[in-house]
Amino acid sequence: MSSDDYQLGLAYLEQFQRPVNPWMSDIREKGRKSKVPIIDDDMGRFLTMICSVREPRSILEIGCGISYATHWMLMGYSKARITALDNNQDRLNLCEAYLRKSGYRDRVKLHKTWVEQFFEENIERFDLIFQDSTKKDYAGMIENCYQCLNPGGLFIADNIFYNKKTFDLKPDQEAKYKKAVKALEDFNKKMTHHPGFECHFLAISDGVLIAKRIN
Ligand SMILES: C[S@@+](CC[C@H](N)C(=O)[O-])C[C@H]1O[C@@H](n2cnc3c(N)ncnc32)[C@H](O)[C@@H]1O
Repeated sequence: MSSDDYQLGLAYLEQFQRPVNPWMSDIREKGRKSKVPIIDDDMGRFLTMICSVREPRSILEIGCGISYATHWMLMGYSKARITALDNNQDRLNLCEAYLRKSGYRDRVKLHKTWVEQFFEENIERFDLIFQDSTKKDYAGMIENCYQCLNPGGLFIADNIFYNKKTFDLKPDQEAKYKKAVKALEDFNKKMTHHPGFECHFLAISDGVLIAKRIN
């Protein structure tokens, strides 16, 4: 399927999708206008669906930004609680404001922290981990994510296509992105061969890895 066909499919399905809540439109608008990265709506729908069918009570979100993905996950399962991390205070302030507006504030613990620091201190285990922080750092966090997932828990990573940069780097992008593309490929390979994960790759949104902790 070409990328045009994929976009046509998304546009066609839009007529059947439930309209997004007003606060979701606000977050999306803010993301677009301020160029703060947020997940795509098809990724959001995927997260809602996964939370709805798997019913994870405890979720760790690595890189929550201004809370777009946080909301998609909360909407999937009413008993889900999220521990959401970000090192950017301005984004966390917006994240908190949007969670108050939607009425979901009491379901989310917000931490202003580097994720590496969080893992040093954390003793909690989670049913689902959503990884959406700096792409080149994904591979270095695999063991930490594995250790703090409950058996049977899910690990989901967004952007394994890195906005298509993993397919093809233009000559003027090489210097800036080559290392990160290589790091993402290492991440994918390590996940495939990790004995504690059963790993799947999906060509939806910007490329998604979904893995289950199997032992
Ligand atoms: C792609 S954005 C997250 C978007 C968010 N998931 C959403 O859909 O609204 C990535 C976020 O990860 C945060 N981040 C990146 N590296 C981090 C790290 N090492 N520790 C904590 N936060 C990090 C950034 O500040 C940024 O807000």
